[in-house]
Amino acid sequence: MNNFVDIRHPERIYETEPLPAWTYLNAELLELEYERVILPSWQFVCHQNQVPEAGDFATLDLWRDSIIVMRGKEGALRAFQNACRHRGSKLLDGAGTCKHRITCPYHAWSYQLDGRLVAVPSEKTFPGLDKSQLGLRELDLEVFCGLVFVRIAGDGPTIAEQWGDLAKELAPYRIEEMVPAQGVQISEEWNCNWKVALDNYLDNYHVPFGHPGLHRLMDNELSCTMNRHGVSFSKSVIRERESHVWSERMYQRLAPRAFADMPEEARATWVFGFMPVNIGFDVFPDSMDIFQILPKGPTKSVIRTPLFVRPDARREAGAMQFLANRINLQIGHEDKELCERVQAGLSSYRYEAGPLSEYEMPVKDMHARLRAACPVVTVKQRPMDGTLRRLNQQMLGEAQPASNVSAMMPVA
Ligand code: FES
Ligand SMILES: [Fe+2]
Repeated sequence: MNNFVDIRHPERIYETEPLPAWTYLNAELLELEYERVILPSWQFVCHQNQVPEAGDFATLDLWRDSIIVMRGKEGALRAFQNACRHRGSKLLDGAGTCKHRITCPYHAWSYQLDGRLVAVPSEKTFPGLDKSQLGLRELDLEVFCGLVFVRIAGDGPTIAEQWGDLAKELAPYRIEEMVPAQGVQISEEWNCNWKVALDNYLDNYHVPFGHPGLHRLMDNELSCTMNRHGVSFSKSVIRERESHVWSERMYQRLAPRAFADMPEEARATWVFGFMPVNIGFDVFPDSMDIFQILPKGPTKSVIRTPLFVRPDARREAGAMQFLANRINLQIGHEDKELCERVQAGLSSYRYEAGPLSEYEMPVKDMHARLRAACPVVTVKQRPMDGTLRRLNQQMLGEAQPASNVSAMMPVA
């Protein structure tokens, strides 16, 4: 059972079987995963260029939680739980600007942009009220490549620590300079468990057959480079042989010369990066998107794909962004269908999955991390209703606290 690879010790081997089918269908497990795996992981909220001025904010709705990222008066970014300290009302929706204060829509408690509670209507009716103890709950925030991430629980490694040397693969694309694309859809629901979408993102094995357009456009690396935190990337390089599809062919022709200020290799290369537990980085010379997989129920997920573009007024830059978006929309449709077909098959009577390929190494690694965080997923048959949490606790040993899955590299 405990045969996991530590990337520093390649002689160790991963389990070749994926997680059992019941783990993709179970509401009790999803509660546990949310608590032990998703809440302690870094979640993407917005690009720093979406909140440039004091009072600018963005929010992220996760399954049970909501987060505010706010630019303070002195310019610092902070993250707060999006819940009023009086009776819990959600404070802000979407994105926008708070001129001076965050005011709750229910009874008008007001908070400074730094989260301090400053005004309570009819304050005298709260004997002994100590406003200094009732500020918004502040959350960990980190800006990485200009992208603002927040962590709701736990205290694992920083994003910079997780990426380590691999961050240099993103540097040529200057993501921090990018700005949000206008008029594009940035989230949709997929009828699948969040781990089906996660496995699919981590699996390059399906690319040649599942994404014929991407296969015509690019020479796609099917293996990947991965570090001990489970951060991984693979590269796709534009093919010299032109595609017969005009949008792909145009992109192939434009890309090598459109952004002369970038290193030559980056101009013709797409980088697909990943950071546990649910964040993909799809990085192109002209634009990038974050691929964020959020659970909505045992067989429903929200796929969030905010798109950012290099600010460049030239026609060829706009053309590349248009073409990349068009090509990627098609890839997204294909992935949605592939994932929903997997979900449909997983509920088959007594279904048992087969082995994973070497090209599915990141899937093996992620499953090892999930086994370490929630060992109950190693049980072959679905535990009886109401017993899953206790069983997991027994398997963990009572003493082990929840921890960040990125730090949780299982060892043999
Ligand atoms: S819930 Fe916010 S002021 Fe009452
Ligand atoms: Fe795919």
